[in-house]
Amino acid sequence: MPERTPCIAANWKMHKTVAEAAQFVDALLPRIAATQNDVVICPSFLALSEVVERSRGNAVRVAAQNMHEEVSGAFTGEVSAAMLGEVGVDAVVLGHSERRRLFCETDEALARKVPAALAAGLEPILCVGETEEARDAGQTEAVLERQLQTDLAAVDPAGLARVVVAYEPIWAIGTGRTASPGQAQKAIAFIRDTLRILGAEADRARILYGGSVKPGNAVELMAQPDVDGALVGGASLDPGDFAAIVEAAG
Ligand code: PGA
Repeated sequence: MPERTPCIAANWKMHKTVAEAAQFVDALLPRIAATQNDVVICPSFLALSEVVERSRGNAVRVAAQNMHEEVSGAFTGEVSAAMLGEVGVDAVVLGHSERRRLFCETDEALARKVPAALAAGLEPILCVGETEEARDAGQTEAVLERQLQTDLAAVDPAGLARVVVAYEPIWAIGTGRTASPGQAQKAIAFIRDTLRILGAEADRARILYGGSVKPGNAVELMAQPDVDGALVGGASLDPGDFAAIVEAAG
């Protein structure tokens, strides 16, 4: 089985000014100097350049939290993949449940965003996950399958290998309720099987867990055979906590 480099991503959401982002990077870098893991920071659009500049020459990569699927046009308030690439961004989070729920992001839009990101040389970090109601109704796998099938419909096998999927059960995001390691493993193994059916070289695909990851639960979650890292919200705002989670990935 191919080795998959663990990926630990900090999703800052709408937190941290440019100055605060700079302080964070300066505090984080010495703490993760020895890591072999793939460390990604996802700041606000405004702080992207600052984080790119500060982390140059270090192991940190930088991701945006969203982008528009078109190359350019009359889309007030939006940012394109090429604009992100120009400032040195490496990756982009797509389909986060907050964007799906609060900003009407649809699977149909994601089906266009994922290939647009790939075409611009960005690594998509595609978020999928079920609501609590769907889980209680035994619909977790059906939801994940539908999201993956739709969002990745226009991606060829070579592109699929470059997509990182983040399994983020909605009931675990920002709630302090974490999926158990067994629940995370089961859902992520299902995602891997689904990627295989879609034509991906699934043993190479990296699939992360997200939802109330903390230094205290990160080791157990990331010890699961199919869990290749974490997308971290709240606990990524503190450089010490985030560095501890990076370390927990091994
Ligand atoms: P959380 O957020 O770690 O605060 O639950 C995770 C996410 O939304 O990516």
